[in-house]
Amino acid sequence: MVVGELTQETELLVIGGGPGGYVAALVAADHGIQTALVERAEVPGGVCLREGCIPSKALLHVAKIIDEAAHAEDFGVSFSKPETDVTKLRNWKNGVIRKLSGGVKQLLAGRKVDYITGDAEFEDSRSVRIEGGEVSRIKFKHCIIATGSRAKMLPESVLPRELCWDAADALKVQEIPARLLVVGGGYIGLELGQVYAALGSEVTVLEALPNILAGADPDLAKPLIAKLRKQMKAIITGAVLKGAKKKGSAIAVTYAIDGSEKTEEFDRILVSVGRRPNSDDLGLENTQVRVDDRGFIQVDPQRRTTDKRIFAIGDVACEPMLAHKAMREAKVAVEAIAGKPTVFDPACIPAVVYTDPEVAWCGVTEAEATAKGLDFKVTKFPWAASGRAVSMGRTDGLTKMLFDNKTQRLIGVGIVGAHAGDLISEGVLAMEMAAVAEDIGVAIHPHPATSETLAEAAEAMFGHAVHAAH
Ligand code: NAI
Repeated sequence: MVVGELTQETELLVIGGGPGGYVAALVAADHGIQTALVERAEVPGGVCLREGCIPSKALLHVAKIIDEAAHAEDFGVSFSKPETDVTKLRNWKNGVIRKLSGGVKQLLAGRKVDYITGDAEFEDSRSVRIEGGEVSRIKFKHCIIATGSRAKMLPESVLPRELCWDAADALKVQEIPARLLVVGGGYIGLELGQVYAALGSEVTVLEALPNILAGADPDLAKPLIAKLRKQMKAIITGAVLKGAKKKGSAIAVTYAIDGSEKTEEFDRILVSVGRRPNSDDLGLENTQVRVDDRGFIQVDPQRRTTDKRIFAIGDVACEPMLAHKAMREAKVAVEAIAGKPTVFDPACIPAVVYTDPEVAWCGVTEAEATAKGLDFKVTKFPWAASGRAVSMGRTDGLTKMLFDNKTQRLIGVGIVGAHAGDLISEGVLAMEMAAVAEDIGVAIHPHPATSETLAEAAEAMFGHAVHAAH
């Protein structure tokens, strides 16, 4: 490697070491492409691994244990009230991050990917300048931009930054605030709201829309909302935050609801109102890459930008902003660079909200199918009729499927219940394989398992789910 003011040359430069970027680098190395990865942080993994998906799942695991221990009383087993050692919890969560990011770093080193620390900025369509690292300039033949996204914050005039947390701040677990306000009832707000509720905070969710988790079908969101209402102090919908200011050691928050304004006090505010792509500050104006008015880099189905040697994947390229979408795009972009015929054209991209119960869906939702005017049938199997769900005391679940009426092809799956995020993979595979209802119904599912609910929902297409009451 050449250091200082000298220039390094590489066949492929990947900018960003998140799930999109590091997968692209690994796959490129497997294709025999000489690859360098530039990343601001010392360790790879991006927001997902360091301050997003992974630490939040570690904390949700703890929240679930606390909740299960409390409910074990129903089975005749009592535990005393849990006590949380926040330092130990934080250390354990940090250990999970260390283990996984260390693993990714090893994988990169094993594939001989050059890991370069610093901030990359395009000088032109063939080179980037690197700030803050050992290497100052890299010339590339191809480049993949995988710089991800960051939390959207509310205007300073409404909510000063020093008064609030974004998800990364909340995942540091520095304190358990007595009263936590969560602004935004989407993926992040509900996952982290549930974590802090389990750890002892009195949580209030403030959502601008009439419903929380607006992207999911209401029948799937219902069991989760019922549980959250028990765990949280309040879920306030149709409410718009007007302002917040310090009041002693507390924060006085004013919001508008039903035409009037209310003020309440909190100790901390978590803002989770969506994310925005990291396409600014990259020097893209020095290239032919085009960015749309929301900040997403414009890409074609191979993830090639309007500058033919530059590709973009993951959150910076387009929605949905999900790690598993970025990983697939990484493979497509590398295949395109390697000259292979390829396209990003998944049958569906699963969405999972890792609360307890989990909510997961793939393909079209019922609301989308109705809005599109599709000719479809919805089948449902309630978990109250699942032997496994009953034996776990987890009947708060529902599996639903959407089939095309003419072809009987599966066009959508939605599941709410324990481990719905694992179960949805069957729906994803079925859709990729263009399964029809009969394929899923006749496939022998293990008994007793909650995965049986998928086979039963498919059988319901013919009006006879065996374990459903008529
Ligand atoms: P989100 O888009 O899921 O939810 C944001 C919510 O905030 C929406 O319900 C919206 O109506 C509401 N909102 C917007 N402005 C508001 C305001 N001023 N006052 C009150 N409510 C307001 O965004 P979130 O939760 O920040 O997550 C960002 C993205 O990160 C997600 O879209 C997802 O792609 C990704 N993510 C995925 C996870 C997963 O796969 N389990 C977990 C966490 C994040």
